Amino acid sequence: MGGLEGPPKPPTEARGAPAKPWHPSIPGHRRAPKPPMAARGAPGEAVAPLDSGTARRSRSTPRFRGRFAVVALSILMMDPVRAAFDRIAEQYAADFADELARKPWDVERLRRFAAACPPGPVLDVGCGAAGHIGRFVAELDTRVDRPVIGVDFSERSAALARRLNPALSFVAGDVGALPFAGGACAGILAFYSLIYAGDEATAALLAELRRVLRDGGRLLAAVHAGAGAQRFTEYKGAAIDVELHHRRPQVFAAQVRQAGFVVEAVEVRPPYAFEHATERLYVAARASS
Ligand SMILES: C[S@@+](CC[C@H](N)C(=O)[O-])C[C@H]1O[C@@H](n2cnc3c(N)ncnc32)[C@H](O)[C@@H]1O
Repeated sequence: MGGLEGPPKPPTEARGAPAKPWHPSIPGHRRAPKPPMAARGAPGEAVAPLDSGTARRSRSTPRFRGRFAVVALSILMMDPVRAAFDRIAEQYAADFADELARKPWDVERLRRFAAACPPGPVLDVGCGAAGHIGRFVAELDTRVDRPVIGVDFSERSAALARRLNPALSFVAGDVGALPFAGGACAGILAFYSLIYAGDEATAALLAELRRVLRDGGRLLAAVHAGAGAQRFTEYKGAAIDVELHHRRPQVFAAQVRQAGFVVEAVEVRPPYAFEHATERLYVAARASS
């Protein structure tokens, strides 16, 4: 988060290939196959009560037992990061939707990204419930052919971002298995979404970002600088379980290079007074040919 720019787990399981090109503005864009959680319903969602007779009868049927097993398995398999952001989506959007008004450093890096980015689709990966990073870039210069698509594996965050930013597109999907064809995108913003996994899993996420970027496409990533990891078990009263990994600038830059990028800038800034108190690391890179 800006503050809970927090922690993910290694990319979750690959979800299999979808069938048809889906996103109208990206050739080869494919709808993400439903992850195991998709069928579970968002936390807090109302469930129609069964009358007790129906409930008794239903529980005895193989169909009910099958569904129960699927739901239980899904809960066990749910990525805690995804679960956390599903749970705090509304609060997160309220806390971060306007943060760029107070972050001139970030605004300047986003402007540079947009100026360097070739025309074409830009992904905002781990866009969060506010979708504000992608929105800022989308609104910079509407003359440029630059549709922005937010991607987040928290379905509740993606749905809220869609509601808050009706002019943009949002997709529920995992950064580790993006529902886009190779080379389909011109730019990628990754603000505080590459912070939840260890080094090995992060390398795999970066490789996936490189896959969907065309040669010469641009990446701008923001993460927490430093070493080690921090665990968060609560966000403003909501229980979560998220590990936030800090990145050593040179190590992270080397990982970006390793994934097939030319690193153009590695910058660290101190936290703003209103942010979680970690230094912030920004890496700007170009997809190498
Ligand atoms: C700290 S928030 C950052 C949101 C926004 N980019 C910002 O800067 O405020 C991290 C977001 O990344 C999403 N996320 C983390 N790991 C992800 C993954 N592997 N695939 C898709 N989304 C992911 C989370 O669901 C969450 O919405």
